[in-house]
Amino acid sequence: RAFLYRLWKGNASSKMLNPRLQKAMKDYLTANKHGVRFRGKRETGLSRAQLLCQLRSRAPVRTLDGTEAPFSALGWRRLVPAVPLSQLHPRGLRSCAVVMSAGSILNSSLGKEIDSHDAVLRFNSAPTRGYEKDVGNKTTIRIINSQILTNPSHHFIDSSLYKDVILVAWDPAPYSANLNLWYKKPDYNLFTPYIQHRQRNPNQPFYILHPKFIWQLWDIIQENTKEKIQPNPPSSGFIGILIMMSMCREVHVYEYIPSVRQTELCHYHELYYDAACTLGAYHPLLYEKLLVQRLNTGTQGDLHRKGKVVLPGFQTVHC
Ligand code: C5P
Repeated sequence: RAFLYRLWKGNASSKMLNPRLQKAMKDYLTANKHGVRFRGKRETGLSRAQLLCQLRSRAPVRTLDGTEAPFSALGWRRLVPAVPLSQLHPRGLRSCAVVMSAGSILNSSLGKEIDSHDAVLRFNSAPTRGYEKDVGNKTTIRIINSQILTNPSHHFIDSSLYKDVILVAWDPAPYSANLNLWYKKPDYNLFTPYIQHRQRNPNQPFYILHPKFIWQLWDIIQENTKEKIQPNPPSSGFIGILIMMSMCREVHVYEYIPSVRQTELCHYHELYYDAACTLGAYHPLLYEKLLVQRLNTGTQGDLHRKGKVVLPGFQTVHC
């Protein structure tokens, strides 16, 4: 529990993680498989307001629009949705929920509260059926990683999880965000299933995040962290929080920073235990969480009991 108290206060460090996780983090630093070259400056003393302004100005949500090579020559301008993600709710949503898939949401009874928001964002294959009492049943947006599109076990084409929602997919690209390199060698080839899905379901809003957006987020996390963070993309959770901050006036994030229910159970819908799911090995998850903790405007009570963080939408911050 000591670690959880430090996380709630915002002064946890990787030194407090178990040796296996520390080793994994070090190995990712050595491998640097995405070729990260951090050129920014670390400035860890920013205020909440400064941090918000930094995120708003330097990490605007961006999706592939088909205007850049190689996608321009492949006809992607007509393939991507005509209405950009940022224009789907041009006047902004009032209040939004981001529901993490963490095991700690089990027995939370947060379902009603979550469904009371104007829009709800969920991740990957996280179900609602059978878990309504704890996670609710409304889904507006689903963020999916490239494995969901490519691994047959997820049934991307026919599962109801991926129907009647806004889909936002992403895949780790090189830090250079060179789209030609990425197109030739994605982590998992999401491009083929994306094209197919767009052709079959032209009316469903479905976007691929631009690698520049993802790595700009990474830069901001590193700039605001004393330690060297893993040179890998931020987790879907962090990406989803930022997408909602750009679309909503207020964002309620559930079980990202764990509540008193903290558990090593990785997902609420799967019997698999690993502390890395909550604290990170591949993703710089611990540092993402420390940053989000600094932005929290919610109460300590809600943090402890609900694992809830409340963040302002970018429209409401004055820079
Ligand atoms: O595992 P998955 O990526 O589908 O989960 C969605 C997001 O929820 C993660 O990217 C992470 O940010 C967050 N998460 C968490 N703690 C867990 C499981 C997931 O913070 N135990």
